[in-house]
Amino acid sequence: MAINILGIESSCDDTSAAIISDGVLLSNVTANQSVHKAYGGVVPELASRAHQQNIVPVVHEAMRRAKMTKQNVDAVAFTKGPGLLGSLLVGASFAKGFSLALDIPLVEVNHLQGHVLAHFIKEKGKNIQRPKFPFLCLLVSGGHTQILLIKDYFDMEIIGQTIDDAAGEAFDKCAKTIGLPYPGGPLVDKLAKLGNPRAFKFSKPRIANLDFSFSGLKTSFLYFVRDEVIKNKNFVSENKNNLCASIQNTIIEILLDKLKKASKQTGVNEIAVAGGVSANSGLRNEIAANATKYGWNTYVPEIEYTTDNAAMIAITGYYKYLKNDFALQSTAPSARMRIDV
Ligand code: KG4
Ligand code: ZN
Repeated sequence: MAINILGIESSCDDTSAAIISDGVLLSNVTANQSVHKAYGGVVPELASRAHQQNIVPVVHEAMRRAKMTKQNVDAVAFTKGPGLLGSLLVGASFAKGFSLALDIPLVEVNHLQGHVLAHFIKEKGKNIQRPKFPFLCLLVSGGHTQILLIKDYFDMEIIGQTIDDAAGEAFDKCAKTIGLPYPGGPLVDKLAKLGNPRAFKFSKPRIANLDFSFSGLKTSFLYFVRDEVIKNKNFVSENKNNLCASIQNTIIEILLDKLKKASKQTGVNEIAVAGGVSANSGLRNEIAANATKYGWNTYVPEIEYTTDNAAMIAITGYYKYLKNDFALQSTAPSARMRIDV
């Protein structure tokens, strides 16, 4: 009999449900929250209210697409953290109720481990290459930027990380500086395709070892734009594509410099990327170019599994289910969680 896992993700502003059967994805449904656009960032209270409205229809739709009834579900996996507490509470409460009502196991998932294990989602009719252990994973999202040494499904070591802002935050904050709505990352990516990546030069941080810093870059971008606008009030509208291409290029260079260093230091040539920023076309191209140059085997997730989604929670839940790693009803979400616990 196949093992069917219902995955629930609600850590930030996406409400998502997915069904995975023996590791094969049957459905993955996500409701995005447009309510935050006007505020330039996610408003936690509005996010948790929207999750409450979305969760039942999203789960219902995931079941319908998977052609599954509640009685066929063997376990429910949910995101325990890290994330916004009010948002996490909605998914956790739903999962607990579902587990109790159907008398099936509850599985708690670390959202960051979910991003990494998204590489193990199988799809019918697709022969997706999975990274082989040990591999390096550049995890780049709105809240995290880390280089991880992945030794096994649940054995992940942080070998480098940001000391301040995350790469996604750098994209979003620079986008905001030039008047783009939240989340700015995907828009910067789109406009960057029309611009010159070398039009403007921004200095890269000098940080020791494999760590990152993005807060100085964000500030120098802000001051640069502010000074240019004083000279020419149309500077941003006249240079939007070049500004996007240049800032994107700088962020990618910072990420790739450290990834190359990590590969050299560890001798690991299996290289994966994960998290929302791994949807960035410039980063994806650069990873592919480095594969040829350095003899890396590279693994870039399908776009659907880069940003927050429940398929990655369901696949992580599946591997935990195989280990009989179940949660108690007394479990509670946690806003802060490390990947290496
Ligand atoms: O993984 P994710 O969906 O949520 C977190 O766990 O944080 O990542 C969201 C981040 C946002 O900062 C968003 O702007 C960024 O990923 N992002 C992108 C792109 N798509 C999403 N950044 C650059 N280029 C993209 N195409
Ligand atoms: Zn995420």
